[in-house]
Amino acid sequence: MATVQTQKALLLHAEGGKYSVGDAPVPRPGPKDVLVKVEAAALNPIDWKIAIPPFSGLIQEYPFITGTDGAGVVIEVGAEVTSLKEGDKIVFQGWFSNPLATLQQFCVVPAEITALIPDNISLDQAASVPLGLATVVLALYNQHPGYPKTLRYKPVWEEGGSTEFAGKPAFIIGGASSVGQYAIQIAKLAGFSPIIVTASLHNTELLTSLGATHIVDRSLEPDAILAKLPELTGGKPLEFVYDAISLPETMPLAYQALAPGGGLVITLSDVIPATLKDEGDRKQIAYVFGNVHAPENRTCGVELYKRLTEWLEKGIIKPNTVEVLPGGLAGAPEGLERLENNKVSGKKLIVRPQETA
Ligand SMILES: NC(=O)c1ccc[n+]([C@@H]2O[C@H](COP(=O)([O-])OP(=O)(O)OC[C@H]3O[C@@H](n4cnc5c(N)ncnc54)[C@H](OP(=O)(O)O)[C@@H]3O)[C@@H](O)[C@H]2O)c1
Repeated sequence: MATVQTQKALLLHAEGGKYSVGDAPVPRPGPKDVLVKVEAAALNPIDWKIAIPPFSGLIQEYPFITGTDGAGVVIEVGAEVTSLKEGDKIVFQGWFSNPLATLQQFCVVPAEITALIPDNISLDQAASVPLGLATVVLALYNQHPGYPKTLRYKPVWEEGGSTEFAGKPAFIIGGASSVGQYAIQIAKLAGFSPIIVTASLHNTELLTSLGATHIVDRSLEPDAILAKLPELTGGKPLEFVYDAISLPETMPLAYQALAPGGGLVITLSDVIPATLKDEGDRKQIAYVFGNVHAPENRTCGVELYKRLTEWLEKGIIKPNTVEVLPGGLAGAPEGLERLENNKVSGKKLIVRPQETA
């Protein structure tokens, strides 16, 4: 049983405001939840974006606690939970409601969307996985009926899912981003080859180690990148493009690179000019919502978390490189500023909530 009733959390007091560390109640787990002592939480672009419109629309109450990536130790299990016990080290995703947010010292999470952390992975590394990986897996494999935010591919964990795309090229824009690194690894798992990515060239070794076969300098003009693709694909049509960056300068490139009938994943809302679109080309666009807590994502999320321990243990999925920020939660605002100003390359910023003064 947890005895602590108050804790430190990263608080946003009003829309458009700045985060600061303050006191918050320790949440109570429901029957299907566990209470976690959060040892590591990753910073993500959404953590700064959510302070301002349009993403601030997701906030239900102020002060708001943010955080969608966590790793920690189970300190209490809900009455119906049989899969976990006190002392288990788990990795999990947070949600946009205070009890479920990860940038606090204690949070709750439904047991079915957690995975044990294998011994070869540190808590800091584990915290770099949930949002980035979910943003790829849900975009490709969610089968929720009528849901448009997925390409609905056959999951790699199902018969034929790892051979369906064998020998077909994949193009990933922003390979060095957190999401991009997981997109490379899932594309490899799904059998895509070659795997062509755009990135700063200093990330070449890292991205090659994850499975990328060709790195195209992201500082080239979009037309120059487009012109290189036929040679890199060996003339094969690009039926799968993942734009992890999804800015106005990358989305037209992503759309133009995609072959007729292919599937494109975008991570921000669609700003592809209508003049480029032609309904006859049957290009499918999925604007992913990468959170396993969402009702439409939950079934696929459970399937992902069933496999995550094994994927991490066997190195099938490698976490991002991590940089641990000093000062516990107090280090988060400066880290978020670095993310906002594009000062983070190829790695994930981590805070350790228990180190908060
Ligand atoms: N829809 C969703 O549910 C969802 C979920 C997660 C993330 N997102 C969004 O997806 C985006 C990526 O998130 P993230 O956490 O993966 O970001 P991140 O790790 O912070 O991205 C940083 C990386 O972006 C790369 N980059 C920046 N501009 C680029 C460009 N024009 N071309 C290629 N690479 C570029 C940089 O690569 P180099 O270092 O190689 O220069 C840098 O390493 C963010 O906008 C985020 O808000 C959406």
